[in-house]
Amino acid sequence: MGTHEDITESKQAGFLPASGEGGFFLPVHLNKLAEQMISLTQPKWKDQAMANGVTLDIRTDLQAIPVIAGNETELREMLTNLIFNAVDAMPHDGAITLRTRHEGEHVLLEVKDTGIGMTEEVRERCLEPFFSTKGEQGTGLGLAMVFGILQRHEGEIDIQSRPGEGTTFSIRLPVLKEQMELVPPQEAATPSAGLRILVVDDDPRVRETIRAFLVSDKHEAEVAFKGREGLEKFHAGNYDIVMTDRAMPEMSGDHLAAAIKKLAPHKPVIMLTGFGDMMEAADEHPGGVDVILSKPVSLVRLREALAKASRHLRAHSTGELRITTISSTAGRAI
Ligand SMILES: Nc1ncnc2c1ncn2[C@@H]1O[C@H](COP(=O)(O)OP(=O)(O)OP(=O)(O)O)[C@@H](O)[C@H]1O
Ligand SMILES: [Mg+2]
Repeated sequence: MGTHEDITESKQAGFLPASGEGGFFLPVHLNKLAEQMISLTQPKWKDQAMANGVTLDIRTDLQAIPVIAGNETELREMLTNLIFNAVDAMPHDGAITLRTRHEGEHVLLEVKDTGIGMTEEVRERCLEPFFSTKGEQGTGLGLAMVFGILQRHEGEIDIQSRPGEGTTFSIRLPVLKEQMELVPPQEAATPSAGLRILVVDDDPRVRETIRAFLVSDKHEAEVAFKGREGLEKFHAGNYDIVMTDRAMPEMSGDHLAAAIKKLAPHKPVIMLTGFGDMMEAADEHPGGVDVILSKPVSLVRLREALAKASRHLRAHSTGELRITTISSTAGRAI
């Protein structure tokens, strides 16, 4: 019964929950959302079950729970991923149960299936980006996205599974408090120093030069040599900004930037490239890249790029403060 405690441990003072589209958290009724997602995903699981000649039963066991603070789009995405994984795990007749409970400061949401289950190795690795046992059928990003969403919601995940005995994903999300304790705006604004930055470049000279610049400006810098290693570090750590080279073997900077945006839509990505000026001139902006920085990098240009990226970060955190206006009635049980 491994708890992925790093989710709660990675909470940092001053880290505001970043959210999707709207950019801020609102009260969410998880029971309603669960019912809604069952009907929205129905066409797909019904089709898949019919094609496999099996009967799938989707049940609910929803109790009165308080509202939580969250981003509905992201929470829908989380449920969709968990439901589809459960469907994929049931090549024979089976049942999926969505269960909710009020547990003190948390709401428990369980997605339980009676499917094929997971070995201990798969259970331990299933949240990793690109980890999949489905070959061509799976991207392995589904649960990594769930993990990212839970990090932003300050939630926790616990996975119970055994081969042949089905799987239960238990998710705990904090109940919406009357008045969320949020960081005052001055602190929410990105400071000119003290950013946590991940630098991904396969060229050791570039990597070390940038790291030296960043450290001299009192930022915290971590380096990765390759895209995949960068994504793993990003996933495990809590970075404010990612800087990545464009042309790298195996996973390009474009690919890495897109994957980061999937995991954390509001984390700014700076792309370093020898073709920066050309890209700027051609108005070429790979999806997932917020700022382009031309090589060779000077300290002045680096500072400019960081200032631009910080503005992105700020734009997305200030909206979060709106949650302070939620009235006290929002915390009532439904
Ligand atoms: N309910 C489940 N039952 C059994 N195994 C599961 C379940 N959910 C996830 N897994 C395992 O975890 C792996 C990773 O899941 P994840 O959702 O991240 O990727 P995927 O489902 O393989 O690909 P995609 O989400 O792109 O379809 C799966 O390949 C599978 O081995
Ligand atoms: Mg999946």
